Parts: sequence; C-alpha cells; structure tokens
Amino acid sequence: MLRVRDNHFWDMLKMENTLPEDLEDAWDHGMLVSSLAGMIARQLGQSEEFCREIELAGMVHDVGKLQVGEYLYGRQEGTLAIEEMQYVRLHPVLGFERLKQIGGFSDKVLEAVYYHHENYDGSGYPSNLRGERIPFAARILRVCDVYVALTSERPYRAAFDLETAVELMIDEVKNFDMQIFLALLAVVHSEEMREMQEFTKRSNQKIKARNIKETIKMEAIL
Ligand SMILES: [Fe+2]
Repeated sequence: MLRVRDNHFWDMLKMENTLPEDLEDAWDHGMLVSSLAGMIARQLGQSEEFCREIELAGMVHDVGKLQVGEYLYGRQEGTLAIEEMQYVRLHPVLGFERLKQIGGFSDKVLEAVYYHHENYDGSGYPSNLRGERIPFAARILRVCDVYVALTSERPYRAAFDLETAVELMIDEVKNFDMQIFLALLAVVHSEEMREMQEFTKRSNQKIKARNIKETIKMEAIL
C-alpha cells in the first residue's frame, strides 16, 4: 500500500497560498484514499496499470478542496451556508481544471477526479450521473472517499471505528456500486488493511492534537 510517492505535484501546490495544516490533511486523506482504492482495484482483479492510475487519482482527487479550504477543515463555525456549500461542491470541477492546467494526468485520472462525488443512484454532483454511466474509477473513489472520511477525525466529531463506518455506509448503500462496496468489505477485513489503519491512527492523533490546541486557544480568549 501507499505506493504513490511522487511529491512533485504537492510541491507545486505548496507554492500557492495553502495553509500547511490544510495541505497536511489533504495529503493524509489523499494517501488513505489512494491506498484503499489500489487495494479495492486489485481485489476486483483490475490491471496493474489501472491500479496505478486509480492510486494517483486517489491521491489528487480532492485537490480542488484546497481552493475552498476556508469553508472546510472546521475553520468556519457551524454548518455551511447554502452558498458556501455550493462553492465547496465545485471542488471536483476545480480540481479537474487545476490538474489539467498542471498537465501530465491521463484522461482516466482527470475523469475520476471530476466525477468522484457522483452517487450510484444519481443523487451526486456535479453531473447527477447514475449507475454505470459514472466512470468505474470514479465509483471506486466514491466508496473509498466516504470510508476514509468516516474513519477520520473531524473538528466536530470523533473518527468512527471500522465497524461503525461500514454500518453507516450500509445505510447509504444506494450511493455505491454494489460490487465495489463488497470489495471494500473484503479489503477492510484483510491483513493488508493493518498498515492503513496504523496510518489512519497517526493521522487522527495529529488532528486531535491540533483540535485540542485550538480549544485551549479559545478558552484562553474567554
Ligand atoms: Fe471530494
């Protein structure tokens, strides 16, 4: 796992106005989605070439979020206002455009980034695609993204454990391609998952420590 080691792309982004903690969170999230996507693709018997592409797509799928960062990562109090939510929902398209601008990404990677928030039942965004009209790689990213998000610490809630995350996903299974979801279930209970769980734990500890620091800062102000 964690095969994507090309830092070049991230170095380019660092030169922009991205906050270090946003970049760190984006990096961890990308690594986790990338690893899980690779494991699922292998579980589904995909070619090595496809697996490498999906790992790359997993690494960069949320790059558009760095442009809408002020609304994310808990810096804005409370829930997102409608306009903010719509802005955040632009991130797959923003990411796609950014990657195209950087260049060197295959159509498959670009397409996976563009459609990674489409739901299998047609309720996703940006294009409300349904079922097999959603590119396969994007359907894999969707499943991985949700699983990784649920098992990650957030400023407004603790990380869910593996079993709870799976149960929550079963409640929303209409959003996912069933064969990919079943592959996720096989993968999360496999030996290979250990390394990823360790990475998740370390990442969550970092976020927790940062959240505690923020709380202490707030208390000092009060
Ligand atoms: Fe996303």
